[in-house]
Amino acid sequence: MQKMLVLDLGGSYGQMLARRVRECHVFSDVHPADKMDMDKIRAFAPAGILLVGGGQERAAIDPQILSLGVPVLGIGSGCLAMVEALGGSVARGQKLCGRTLTNLSEDAVLFAGMPPITIGWMDQEEYITALPEGFVATASTKEHPIVAFSDPGRQLYGTMFHPEAGHTEGGLRMLERFLKEICGAADEWTMDNILRMAVDQARERIGDRKVLMALSGGVDSSVAAALLSRAVGSQLTCLFVDHGMLRKGEGDEVEGIFTRIDTHFIRVNAVERFQQALEGVTDPEQKRRVIADEFVKVFQEEARKLGGVDFLAQGNIYPDILEAGQGYADVIKSHQEMRDLPDHIEFKELIEPLRYLFKDEVRALGRTMGLPEFLVARQPFPGPGLAIRIMGTITPEKLELLRDADHIFTSELEKAHVNQHIAQYFAVLTDTQLYGSLDGRHPGGYTLALRSVTTDDFATAKWARIPYELLDKISGQIMREVPGISRVVYDITNKPPATIEWE
Ligand code: XMP
Repeated sequence: MQKMLVLDLGGSYGQMLARRVRECHVFSDVHPADKMDMDKIRAFAPAGILLVGGGQERAAIDPQILSLGVPVLGIGSGCLAMVEALGGSVARGQKLCGRTLTNLSEDAVLFAGMPPITIGWMDQEEYITALPEGFVATASTKEHPIVAFSDPGRQLYGTMFHPEAGHTEGGLRMLERFLKEICGAADEWTMDNILRMAVDQARERIGDRKVLMALSGGVDSSVAAALLSRAVGSQLTCLFVDHGMLRKGEGDEVEGIFTRIDTHFIRVNAVERFQQALEGVTDPEQKRRVIADEFVKVFQEEARKLGGVDFLAQGNIYPDILEAGQGYADVIKSHQEMRDLPDHIEFKELIEPLRYLFKDEVRALGRTMGLPEFLVARQPFPGPGLAIRIMGTITPEKLELLRDADHIFTSELEKAHVNQHIAQYFAVLTDTQLYGSLDGRHPGGYTLALRSVTTDDFATAKWARIPYELLDKISGQIMREVPGISRVVYDITNKPPATIEWE
């Protein structure tokens, strides 16, 4: 399969660019530019190279990258790095916003037949003052005569603007022209191909050996399990630890699906055990620790009962792998207890069938395998589950209350299709109890908080603008149907300064 190499010079564009390339059905892999020397680049054998960077800092590039005989497109500071590497010059200036490119060179392959491209903004406060020999300017703005250039003979191209960014109108078509017309890449990165390759690779690697996987019921572990089940059927054992902190009906849903799929599925009922371990625990970090430790213990015990494990399977996805090296805490936090497993389970090899896939690709793969929509479209759910959505001590009664209220909130948003633009939505049971209630039905009831946010990356988030009428309907229904709740509030705090979860 042809591969595009995204060489990341810093900034936050590498992953987005890689996703856009894949949306054009071409595989792409991101590597920090300073970690890829020429031998590694040659071994990667790219069909084309995308040099991308943003912000004001950039590392210099090895000029040999530009004489490999492989087409190179430099984007943002990647394009400036190309200019400097080949003897051109760059000067400081103003950032450009909202410009339409002029003088689009009709004969430049990148722009041939293209409608006008409008760029939202450019990240750099620099501009090109002189191009290296052999380069010609292929696009300008009112202020700058050189915002794109090419040297078709050497297959070198550059754009000051980011074609992958949503604010660059026409950018994706330009990117696609680079991939298809210049690099000659074929439409190989399709879901059918991805599925076939992933199944073949897993089958070949696993052979007739045994695989053990921790299933949480979340999107990633479910898709990974379904994929491995296709590859090796009942050589796969899925262990689903029910810690009792799940949402309404969730445990049964997971069991319902995975008992129909060809795998050896085990649901461990550890509800009482977790409840006991959490008794009297009120500190959020301690709740997390207790749950993670207990989870590992239960998993170890069950794994021992099953006997020797050849492979431990994990549902880590591409951003987990990329960001694990960069310490991106919000992503790392996800299902910490699953991530802790390899340190505590005896196994010979680790298998991560989704390690090259972005989240949207994981969901699409799940759909291709026929997994139900509620499972593949599921919002993220923290590993410690409802334990960190109940303030103070956790009791079976509080869990029941929260489950019922959360179910009303989430299913009403889903019925109204409001959830489609909301990344995460859930209820939180606060520890505030009110003793007055006008209808006499809620004495001593708890205050429930509803939280819903929009976000792309969970590192920052905005509170979601849910219509008042819908909030009114939800609050009324919760007050009628969940007598233990005596007040409902809606959280209107962004992240930062707040976090998404309350604990
Ligand atoms: P915060 O609350 O930090 O959450 O803004 C960011 C994302 O991380 C999830 N989250 C967790 N996931 N274990 C997890 O597996 C945790 O302890 C945990 N805490 C927060 C949260 O749901 C959101 O998606």
